[in-house]
Amino acid sequence: MCKAYLLPIVLLTWVLLAVTLLASDCSINGFPLVRNISALPQSNYGREGLSHITLAGSLIHGMKEIEIWLQTFSPGSHTPIHRHSCEEVFVVLKGTGTLYLASDSHRKYPDNPKMYPVFANSTFIVPVNDAHQVWNTDDSEDLQMLVIVSRPPVKVFIYEDWSMPHTAARLKYPYYWDEQCFDSPVRDEL
Ligand SMILES: *[C@@H]1O[C@H](CO)[C@@H](O)[C@H](O)[C@H]1NC(C)=O
Ligand SMILES: *[C@@H]1O[C@H](CO)[C@@H](O)[C@H](O)[C@H]1NC(C)=O
Repeated sequence: MCKAYLLPIVLLTWVLLAVTLLASDCSINGFPLVRNISALPQSNYGREGLSHITLAGSLIHGMKEIEIWLQTFSPGSHTPIHRHSCEEVFVVLKGTGTLYLASDSHRKYPDNPKMYPVFANSTFIVPVNDAHQVWNTDDSEDLQMLVIVSRPPVKVFIYEDWSMPHTAARLKYPYYWDEQCFDSPVRDEL
């Protein structure tokens, strides 16, 4: 029993399926509740030595208040020197590294950051708007961290060096991993 009117319906179904699949990378509804981290998309987003996975994101998953990343830095790699007007919490899962933190944001530029060694099973908080940078200072082991930020998507100001004035830091928005889904559907406010 093959009726001619079925053909357009079949074609329409295929078109809808294709559209859904193409959009699924940035779809805030199209993901399972429990997801296998090993199977999630990861990329360096153009930054050498980085592996970034957005575990719970504003643009991909519709998170409103916090965003959670799993980041792995190969030996010698690091974040840019940067600041953002949100809270940030790190949990070091593996490896060792150095946090550089310039707490005195009243000066014109960050200058002389304090150095803090960070290590597996350590945690630290970066206060709102403090310029900071995290390095993997180990020769051989990766540095892996869970990173939680408030007020996503993050608006990052990047410094070329520690003596760059705060006012000259360059806004990078959307941030590297937010670029792909930035123009996707507008979400409701809470
Ligand atoms: C999670 O994904 C990895 C890599 O694809 C796979 O080897 C592993 O079996 C998965 N775990 C479960 C519980 O499905
Ligand atoms: C981290 O510290 C907690 C509290 O002491 C401990 O229960 C846990 O096993 C530690 N984890 C690792 C990976 O060492």
